[in-house]
Amino acid sequence: MSNESLANLLREERRFEPPAQLAADANVTAEAYERAKADRLGFWAEQARRLSWSTEPTETLDWSNPPFAKWFKDGRLNVAYNCVDRHVEAGHGDRVAIHFEGEPGDSRSLTYAELQREVAKAANALLELGVRTGDRVAVYMPMIPETVVAMLACARIGAPHSVVFGGFSADALATRVQDADARVVITADGGYRKGGASALKPAVDEALSRPGTENVRNVLVVRRTGQDVDWTEGRDLWWHDVVDRQSEEHTPEAFEAEHPLFILYTSGTTGKPKGILHTSGGYLTQVSYTHHAVFDLKPETDVFWCTADVGWVTGHSYIVYGPLSNGATQVLYEGTPDSPHKGRWWEVVEKYKVTLFYTAPTAIRAAMKWGDDIPAKFDLSSLRLLGSVGEPINPEAWIWYREHIGAGRTPVVDTWWQTETGGIMISPLPGVTATKPGSAQVPLPGISATVVDDEAREVPDGAGGYLVLTEPWPSMLRTIWGDDQRYLDTYWSRFENRYFAGDGAKKDDDGDIWLLGRVDDVMLVSGHNISTTEVESALVAHPAVAEAAVVGAADPQTTQAICAFVILRGAAAEELEEGGLVDELRAHVAKQLGPIAKPKRILPVAELPKTRSGKIMRRLLRDVAENRELGDVTTLTDSSVMALIQQKLPTAG
Ligand code: WT7
Repeated sequence: MSNESLANLLREERRFEPPAQLAADANVTAEAYERAKADRLGFWAEQARRLSWSTEPTETLDWSNPPFAKWFKDGRLNVAYNCVDRHVEAGHGDRVAIHFEGEPGDSRSLTYAELQREVAKAANALLELGVRTGDRVAVYMPMIPETVVAMLACARIGAPHSVVFGGFSADALATRVQDADARVVITADGGYRKGGASALKPAVDEALSRPGTENVRNVLVVRRTGQDVDWTEGRDLWWHDVVDRQSEEHTPEAFEAEHPLFILYTSGTTGKPKGILHTSGGYLTQVSYTHHAVFDLKPETDVFWCTADVGWVTGHSYIVYGPLSNGATQVLYEGTPDSPHKGRWWEVVEKYKVTLFYTAPTAIRAAMKWGDDIPAKFDLSSLRLLGSVGEPINPEAWIWYREHIGAGRTPVVDTWWQTETGGIMISPLPGVTATKPGSAQVPLPGISATVVDDEAREVPDGAGGYLVLTEPWPSMLRTIWGDDQRYLDTYWSRFENRYFAGDGAKKDDDGDIWLLGRVDDVMLVSGHNISTTEVESALVAHPAVAEAAVVGAADPQTTQAICAFVILRGAAAEELEEGGLVDELRAHVAKQLGPIAKPKRILPVAELPKTRSGKIMRRLLRDVAENRELGDVTTLTDSSVMALIQQKLPTAG
């Protein structure tokens, strides 16, 4: 983020008090901060009692081997029972759990009683396929109710799921199946996106042809689009054949609080994605509490809608586990916001009378671009609270969101968290906090976060540095799957006894926290974190590319746009004169990593700027890509390289 926009952020002086009625009826009041401050662990022990345990925990936190936390370790529970059965037992079986809205306009609603039967059948099906406690199940699905059912069925039998975003390529799926050593893949023939049926099954077939995926015994396929699929006899099974004939009874087994619930992969700065491991009791406690506190959910009357894909952590925590553990009624929407028209989301809000809406700044910016008149055509008066997550929200977008979606009445909660944190960490409380456009503001009750300088000293109000978390929290990642050392190196080695989030942050004069983006080389494109190294590796995998350096260049639409500098191999460079190679490389990256990782620009160069130790200086390339004067070039092996690159780039703007 440039200094200029940083200065603008901090000049923001607008304040919005909580609406009086919301404050009066709020689930959580200012008193929660006091209580948590006086006895942090007692506070979390109290929140754990929101859940139904078959054995109540007596120990809240075991931090005897930091940073490997054990929360509620002598407690036992079943996560799926907490998300489904207990609501039915409490007499809410007829309450709608999920209003599903397909992109083509098909819809269906599942009550908690129906969800209970579907989850039991799916759990029985997985057991029949030989899935046992601890076995990993990969889930590669569109946004349909069966995806939620599949995740809960895994949780119910203690088989950790690894959900892979349906927009990822076969390569990405293969590496994730390999790393987790999955035994079963649950997928669909396809899903509806951008007005058409988009296939999923071929990517599964391709991924499972790779070495290292041999332990996948079965592929369970949901029929969603009806498109043709290739079939491997003995391995592939239709969901409707196997699940539908199962018993609707399944007795949930209680697992230890630290039993693995899921693995979710996140891009890192080094090539291999990190399998973030979350466990059961602490994770569910925090997502349940934060959903209750931040969204002020009233399960009897609210209709919640989180627009994220279940392939991201936002979908895990605030579509599946948070809302369902709280007995919420929610919308599950399959497609994109602009199919079949740019008012689709607002039409869905109107149709289901959505009261609580949670989305990402990139979507808000797109809606702003499409025009105020589009949401204005719909009745959005049911909305009472708006949330934002995924990247810093510009004050302009925050204000637009409040004005044009929230009619100037609704609080906007900007929620900071990560795949690694599992649940929301920093956010206003809608009934308590006077909100500031652009700031996530304050750690939630029970959460300890601050901003430190290079030497780990807490910065004074008004100063910037690195965001750190200073105490363990219930939904924290427990490790990186299969790689404890990388867990230590990535999060716990930058500062002693502090979790390093990798984000730049600033405290304003009131002590409120402003997030300023990633400090490392992970790019943020339309709300997705993409690693520079992964894109570079993909480019170098192409026979025409000798070397590549990738940077994220500031982009008003997508936050960052991927800009790649490539050194071509001789023969291929000639081909380039005839055109076509740049397009081919872009397509190649899309195939390797998924369309979201496709570089916006690819610039062939003769040399790359490197330090004497051989490290590419991406900082300088970012300067070029953003048309800035070059920063310090003195550590370059050869400073004339930059002049050559700039010469080659008359179109770099
Ligand atoms: C990174 C985590 C958490 C679910 C979605 C992303 C950025 C997230 C905010 C926010 C500023 C934010 C951070 C963070 N981020 N929320 N409200 N304000 N930045 O999960 O893919 O693990 O990414 O997203 O940079 O570290 P993720």
